[in-house]
Amino acid sequence: MKKITIAIDGPASSGKSTVAKLIAKDLGYVYLDTGAMYRSVTYLALQAGLTEETVNVPQLLDLIDRHPISFGLAADGSQTVFIKDQDVTLAIRQNDVTANVSWVAALAEVREKLVEQQRQLAKSGGMIMDGRDIGTVVLPKAELKIFLIASVEERAERRYKENLAKGIEADLEELKQTIAERDYKDSHRRVSPLKPADDALIFDTTGVSIEGVVTFILEKAKQIIDK
Ligand code: DC
Repeated sequence: MKKITIAIDGPASSGKSTVAKLIAKDLGYVYLDTGAMYRSVTYLALQAGLTEETVNVPQLLDLIDRHPISFGLAADGSQTVFIKDQDVTLAIRQNDVTANVSWVAALAEVREKLVEQQRQLAKSGGMIMDGRDIGTVVLPKAELKIFLIASVEERAERRYKENLAKGIEADLEELKQTIAERDYKDSHRRVSPLKPADDALIFDTTGVSIEGVVTFILEKAKQIIDK
């Protein structure tokens, strides 16, 4: 059967990773969470004491080279993230990483390095990748491009529940504010801003169940695979 590449982009907490994982499982594809890669680099930067004001880009690039990011599977089937041999799955979801990831992701040299790794991983097809610039920059030839959106209120509520389930402290009003700020920064940065590709299907998931979004994307994917 033909193996395609699927790009799922959209703002923070628009449901990208939840639906991408389910679609990957259904199709037997690999799922790549590119946000986790930017978060891992942010974690490395914070560990090294770098801030937006003091960042030394060559030093950060060197840190990335010396600390490869990889993915694994936990016993319950959920995805784990490693920096070298350190499991950072939970650490990269903490508030300090979330609060700093936008300035790290705005560094052109960091993006260049991660985009190259992402393209290598997608080479053999059968890949579903989620992020902000997958359809526009990383995989402009992806056979299926989806851009998910949802209201800030709904996204904050989703993240609130997710954080509580993971044992991460959360405040709903604060989440609304940080999500809106991250949307603004991600879509107004100079390099690879968050925006739908011209050929992306835009899907507003506000009030739509996860199954509803998954069914829509799977239908589109299967039409392309069976063609
Ligand atoms: O999807 P997420 O919230 O885990 O992503 C974390 C941050 O990484 C997000 O604020 C923007 C950045 N990001 C990016 O710039 N490009 C990507 N392809 C994925 C994420």
